[in-house]
Amino acid sequence: MRSTILLAAVLALAGCRGMHSDKAPIHPNLNMDFTESFEPQEANDFFEDGLAMRQPVPGTVKRTGLRTTENAPYYLGRTADGQLVPTIPMEVTEVVLARGQERYNIYCAVCHGEAGDGLGIIMTGNDGQGYGYTPAPSYHTDLLRARPDGYLYDAIANGIRSMPSYGHQVSVPDRWAIVAYIRALQRSQNATAEDVPEPIRDQLETYNPNVTLD
Ligand code: HEC
Repeated sequence: MRSTILLAAVLALAGCRGMHSDKAPIHPNLNMDFTESFEPQEANDFFEDGLAMRQPVPGTVKRTGLRTTENAPYYLGRTADGQLVPTIPMEVTEVVLARGQERYNIYCAVCHGEAGDGLGIIMTGNDGQGYGYTPAPSYHTDLLRARPDGYLYDAIANGIRSMPSYGHQVSVPDRWAIVAYIRALQRSQNATAEDVPEPIRDQLETYNPNVTLD
């Protein structure tokens, strides 16, 4: 008898699920049904900084609201009239180059190769067969050396043909740092003996017997 009543109660309760009712719901288990909500800019003691609004995690790449009209060359790699900028619109220091090298080796080298020759692991792996991806071009062509810096920036920010965009992962200053590093790679792979400072030029033959000095 008792189990029949229990069964009836369980069925009656279960039967209520999903049914429409105009009455206020009963909350036997409050759980997270009622959470306190905060207004924008409101204080909240729960967090150490006393703010209810949480900040984006460090390193978050901003995707909207960039001050593009104010500084189009820096943010878009284009001049105000839409032309690709010829040169990097920020100072290139040794620190910037080192950062560019680090970011390049993380994001680009897998396809374009550490030397920028297009022979990254994605292209050469799997017993030299690659993985069926569109070949990544080498940067060491007259055409790419002659391209404006904005062209390289644009490829990172928006992708180019079958190459996807790296705009979500790589911040604006890091994109320019990578551009600077690609320029360094291009210079290094197309260098002449004259690019080497005179005092150490005679050491060249040690490293590359094909270079003839006069
Ligand atoms: C997953 C592989 C892959 C990665 C990673 C990658 N690329 Fe590419 N990239 C390609 C391919 C493939 C092309 C050629 C696209 C086409 O022509 O369809 C290309 C083309 C380019 C071009 C244009 C070259 C030209 O001939 O005009 C530039 C510049 C470039 N990549 C720069 C970068 C930079 C900088 C990074 C790192 C932020 C990067 N790529 C990361 C695969 C990749």
